[in-house]
Amino acid sequence: MYEDLEKKVVVITGAAKGLGKAMAERFGKEKAHVVLNYHTENGDHKEVIKTIEAAGGKAAAIQGDVSKEADVKKLLSFAVDTFGTIDIMINNAGIENEVPSEKLTLEDWQKVIDVNLTGMFLASREAISYMLDHGIKGNIINMSSVHDRIPWPHFVHYAASKGGVKMMTETLALEYAPKGIRINNISPGAIDTPINGEKFNDPKAKQEVINLIPMGYIGKPEQIAACAAWLASAESSYVTGLTLYADGGMTKYPGFQAGKG
Ligand code: NAI
Repeated sequence: MYEDLEKKVVVITGAAKGLGKAMAERFGKEKAHVVLNYHTENGDHKEVIKTIEAAGGKAAAIQGDVSKEADVKKLLSFAVDTFGTIDIMINNAGIENEVPSEKLTLEDWQKVIDVNLTGMFLASREAISYMLDHGIKGNIINMSSVHDRIPWPHFVHYAASKGGVKMMTETLALEYAPKGIRINNISPGAIDTPINGEKFNDPKAKQEVINLIPMGYIGKPEQIAACAAWLASAESSYVTGLTLYADGGMTKYPGFQAGKG
């Protein structure tokens, strides 16, 4: 636990399930004030709010599509109206779909880029602008992926978006370091969330993924939430522009284990 996170205002996109939910709940345990963005109106966010409040945090939620500029502006205004400021912006919302690249439509390409890259840019820009106007030495955390460096056939739009997020993070980190705004990137490996539901329900497909992980197991959302809490806290006060690979060693060339190669 990080005492300095208490009462900090944290905005998290895509916070009703998966990694967003785990981070929202972790910041609830830190007794932060959490603003959840959710995309699909199915009520899942209400459970997350209850969990945060039961842990001693505060929470509020607003629906929105991160790829729409007006929705992103509304999200940030909602955070300020509800809890008075913005200290930490976590750009988590993301999508993927498998298509061989020669069949990938412009529409599919654009959708993934719009949500995964443009959405993170829009919320970063709005948060930075707010922090500059109010002299806040804030914190931005982007959720990239090991596929910001591991090529991924059939997911070219996803890999391109995540490579873009990594370079966007590094560029913004450099640009705003003099203002004390820290901007970092978390790149998870394979984590047990709904995005992987279908794959991990198939034992063969799941084992194929595990074979790519030197630590030998699929990561848990809480392990990524712990990285986000550390990056948001003062314990990482000299860290900016980092891409933190939380991947059980997936980016370390597992094919070379045990003297192979
Ligand atoms: P998920 O599918 O469980 O959750 C994604 C969330 O994003 C959902 O809450 C969804 O409603 C939201 N979302 C989708 N489109 C949106 C939009 N237009 N506007 C606002 N919200 C939208 O996926 P998961 O695993 O929790 O992924 C979270 C992030 O982590 C994504 O950026 C993903 O690319 C990244 N990631 C996940 C990995 C994993 O193995 N689970 C590995 C590497 C990266």
